[in-house]
Amino acid sequence: MTSFTLNGKKTEVTADADTPLLWVIRDEAGLTGTKFGCGIGMCGACTVHIGGKAARSCVTPVSAVEGQEITTIEGLDPKGQHPVQKAWQELQVPQCGYCQSGQIMQAAAALKDNANISDADIDAQMSGNLCRCMTYTRIRAAVRQAASAMAANAMKGG
Ligand code: FES
Ligand code: FES
Repeated sequence: MTSFTLNGKKTEVTADADTPLLWVIRDEAGLTGTKFGCGIGMCGACTVHIGGKAARSCVTPVSAVEGQEITTIEGLDPKGQHPVQKAWQELQVPQCGYCQSGQIMQAAAALKDNANISDADIDAQMSGNLCRCMTYTRIRAAVRQAASAMAANAMKGG
């Protein structure tokens, strides 16, 4: 049995200790927004937040998240209106969509403590998240737009 907080809810799961967190999230918790791409930590499709930091759930054994706070794309914002999600919608970033929850979770973690992020830092933070549809130009523009919105919010104290 492993216990953790999943999108704000205390959760207990029975999966074996070495089961990847990705499969616990998808199969045991039934949250399918987090995707399986490579299974070896190389594509970013399975990105979630563990303790507020972006992490690859396909290479994280569930035993490693005992007592931790996990956030998936379903829990990023109660109404799907996180500044990153809004920017993604406004700039119509997705193509097939498969990689996009991972992209959004990676970007949200990158901007959390650094809304004044530079273009070079955006590239560095997002470089491990692959998109077979090549939406990279729109991803970069959306991260930049979300960063501006978050910096403006911070100035307003919001
Ligand atoms: S599925 Fe986890 S990094 Fe590719
Ligand atoms: S939008 Fe298709 S893989 Fe990224």
